Amino acid sequence: MKKVTKAVFPVAGMGTRFLPATKASPKEMLPIVDKPLIQYAVEEAVAAGVTDMIFITGRTKRSIEDHFDKAYELETELEARGKKELLEIVKRTVPKGVNCVYIRQSEALGLGHAVLCAAPVVGDEAFAVILADDLLDNHGAEPIMQQMVGVYNYHRCSVLGTMNVPREDTRQYGIVSTDSQQGNVQRVTGIVEKPKPEDAPTTQAVVGRYILTPHIFDHLRSIKPGAGGELQLTDAIASLLKEEAVLSYQFQGVRYDCGSKLGYLKATVEFGLRHAETGADFAAYLAARA
Ligand code: G1P
Repeated sequence: MKKVTKAVFPVAGMGTRFLPATKASPKEMLPIVDKPLIQYAVEEAVAAGVTDMIFITGRTKRSIEDHFDKAYELETELEARGKKELLEIVKRTVPKGVNCVYIRQSEALGLGHAVLCAAPVVGDEAFAVILADDLLDNHGAEPIMQQMVGVYNYHRCSVLGTMNVPREDTRQYGIVSTDSQQGNVQRVTGIVEKPKPEDAPTTQAVVGRYILTPHIFDHLRSIKPGAGGELQLTDAIASLLKEEAVLSYQFQGVRYDCGSKLGYLKATVEFGLRHAETGADFAAYLAARA
């Protein structure tokens, strides 16, 4: 049985909500405490058994490549100074047995287009898509992509990570309709990109986690530009589910939208409070100022 071994990380977006921080450096390199967002995403993929990381990059994204490359000078320097712990942290950034592939998306034509750019490397197998600015916190349970791979291995069809959101927020998400409200795995019967609250069929929203069968590429090639004039992954999934089963896997934890300032600040506080080095002092600081 073929496993899910490839993950696509669309990282070519401009990160306009974070300007000027993202003028010359990628939003995916913004740190939550001491790790960039993209590293959380890659670690989630590794936990799910993924070995091939496919980054769809663009201008100003070179630092992502550098981050997942060996840092010879830094490692030599840390070694010479006897900084063993820091050396380990630097070396661990690139997990063993992991390959990184970088594909340039020269035009910002949308998430669907970014995923389609990965087609030559993905080939004819199911693959994961992870949007790094959606930081999903499962409070110590298995990371969501690992859970979704379990669902995929059992059902052998596309799986979308979803969660329930307030109705006023539906215009920020792909919204799914499902055949039942029971359990956390349901069959998707429809999906629509960013509906207005009054038009949204449900409040079940796609978070930035997908496992897709390779048939999605045929649908990505045939769809027309959708919401915002972009090629939408959501529209390709809507087309795919006319031909094969697509499941919704309901995520139970907390999602931080780290592409937004408020979501990013919330994640920083929560992860800072939990961090081995800063947690206790940070909690005392917050208590003192409350
Ligand atoms: C993208 C997808 C949307 C999904 C969302 C999750 O939108 O198009 O369907 O619900 O990610 O974060 P974006 O946030 O890139 O506008």
